[in-house]
Order: sequence, then C-alpha cells, then structure tokens
Amino acid sequence: MSLSVPQTHPIAPSPVVAIIGATGAVGQAFLDCLATRRFPLSRLRLLASPRSAGTALPFGNSRITVETLAEDSFAGVDIALFSAGGDISRRYAPMAVAAGAVVIDNSSAFRMDPDVPLVIPEINAKALLDHRGVIANPNCAAVVALMAAAPVHRINRIRRITLATYQAASGAGAAAMAELEASTRAHLAGEIYTPQVLPHPYAFNLFSHNTAIDPATGYNDEETKLMREIPKILGDDAVRVSATCVRVPVMRAHAVALTLECEDPITPDAVRRLLAAAPGVRLVDDAARNHFPMPVEASGRDEVLVGRIRTDRSDPTGRSIALFAAGDQLLKGAALNAVQIAELLKAPRPPERG
Ligand code: A2P
Repeated sequence: MSLSVPQTHPIAPSPVVAIIGATGAVGQAFLDCLATRRFPLSRLRLLASPRSAGTALPFGNSRITVETLAEDSFAGVDIALFSAGGDISRRYAPMAVAAGAVVIDNSSAFRMDPDVPLVIPEINAKALLDHRGVIANPNCAAVVALMAAAPVHRINRIRRITLATYQAASGAGAAAMAELEASTRAHLAGEIYTPQVLPHPYAFNLFSHNTAIDPATGYNDEETKLMREIPKILGDDAVRVSATCVRVPVMRAHAVALTLECEDPITPDAVRRLLAAAPGVRLVDDAARNHFPMPVEASGRDEVLVGRIRTDRSDPTGRSIALFAAGDQLLKGAALNAVQIAELLKAPRPPERG
C-alpha cells in the first residue's frame, strides 16, 4: 500500500462520517453504535454497491439514503468507516485518505502494514498517535481473545497462546446470517437446503473456518490472521500463537478458548482479579452454577465476557492458565471497536492508555 498523505489529520469537532458497506451486517452495527453512543457528527453518508443505492436506512429519528460508492464519494468526509471487504478497502481507502479523510478499516487489507496502527483502544490506544490516514480494526476473533489475554500480558508476559475459536455467522456477513436462519428452518421442516454462502451445511453442524488453507503451513487464513495480529496488537513479536478456527451455528457472538503460557507462575485468582478490573471486560465465572461466557449473553453487549479461568494442568510449572471468552462479533469485534477509535481520534488530548 502506498499512502502519500500528511502525518497529521486533525478531526473536526463535528465531523462528516461515511460508512462504506452501510447495508452489511457490520455497516448496520456502525449505524447502531454511532446512534447509541451519540457520536457527535454533522452529517452521516451511507455508501454501498449500486444494488443498494436509493435504499433508506433508519438512523436515530431520521432516514438516510444509501449512495453508490464511487471514486468521488469522499469529498468533505472526515472519517470513513470501511466494512465492504478487503478489495473495496484496498481500492478506495487510499482515495478517501487523499481526499482528507481518516479511514478506520474493518477489513484485513492493511492490518499488517507496518505504517498502519492495528488498534483495540483498551489495549494499545497509543498506537493511534502514529497513524498516516489509515487505522485498522483487528480481526474479530483476535479482539475477543485479546480482551481476555491482554490484561494478563500487562502484568505477566505471555510467551505462548494456544486458542480455538467458535465463530458466529455474522463474521461471514449478512448473507451468512440469513443462510443460518434459512437452513435451520429448512432442516426443521425436513427440507433439503443447498448451501449458497458458506461451503458446508450450517444448521446443526460446525466446520473448519471457511477460508483457504495455506499449503505451506496447514493453517487457514483466519488462523493466520490471528497468529499475526495478536503479537502486533500486544506490541510483542516474541508472543507465539497457534489457532484453530471453527465456524459454529451461532448468529452473532464469537467464543474463544485460550491457554496462555506466561513467563512467571500465575493463579486463577490473580487472573480473576485482573479481569474483574479490566475495562471492556465482564467476568462471568460462576463455577457453582456452571455459568460461563455464552454467545447468547454476549450478543448485543459492548463488553467481552470472560471466565472458565483455571490452571492448565498440562503445564507442571504453574505458568499456564486456561480461559473462555465470548464477545459480540458485530460490536466489540467490529463496529464498536471502530467507533471507539473514532472517539479517541476526536479526543482533545492524546490517548493515555498504553
Ligand atoms: P450491498 O448491500 O449493496 O451489496 P456483508 O459483510 O454483511 O456481506 O456486507 C458487505 C457490504 O459491502 C454491503 O454493504 C455491500 O453492499 C457492500 N459492498 C459489496 N460490494 C460492494 C461494492 N462493489 N461497492 C460498494 N459496496 C459494496
């Protein structure tokens, strides 16, 4: 990527915001987050493909008409929230930046670019001080995993993370959510449903994440993203990650099982105390009632739920801890995180959290 842009991007107190991919699952969540958080914008522009042009979407008490995304869409835009896939971001984000906008990109297009901060505000907000017009929103499963792991890393450096994901339909977009519903209805009615969006039957099934496998490593694209993005967000290239990503028939919240191997011995009680105080985290760790993080309870919530905290008995040194987390893929995993970034960009003082 080449970004020939100035280093500083002051944001107007009441900016013009554009959502690219406004009709998609994350696009809708952008609209909800901007409205519920009363983001102080002067105008909201909604952009999508020609298929959606002319559709009016509700925002607060008004309706906004969707426009076709075009090269000249960005004149006067201060903040461009992209979620229309990597190809659209690669093509249009440099145009938005050249027109003077700051891009917050939910795709994977720029995440590993050394000039692009990859930010979860509760973890590495300071990286925002260094942006050159594009800021990347991390992979949704990486956000859920790191909201649980980063508070531990802050006090007892993590050397190694092994994780398995249980990823919802929302991560594959609005059409996959509709497919989960339609295929479940068909299954219950005893009808044959031919998958159209995802590669395998989705109702009452689960399957290895629907991204391509790298023949050199055996990991799929989603797993590779997690393994690369997690060290970048932690700011620690020494953290080693191995991921197994699975698509499960859940509508909109991802769950992640993690084992963290730390530098020093660590206890479940210490982790519980840390997570109880961590911003953006809600501790759900009630062993007596067998009540731990669940997608149905994470859906629609801003916080990532974390619990099931226990010593990893396969590590006799006492340096490893196991956890389970669930977070709304469309909120903290995507739109909420991006809107939090936009709020920090508008803040009069630079972010203080590391
Ligand atoms: P549209 O609804 O007009 O196809 P999701 O991730 O839920 O599948 O959503 C993808 C989003 O990206 C939708 O808003 C979709 O708009 C948008 N999109 C897809 N292709 C294009 C394109 N060529 N130009 C602009 N927006 C696009």
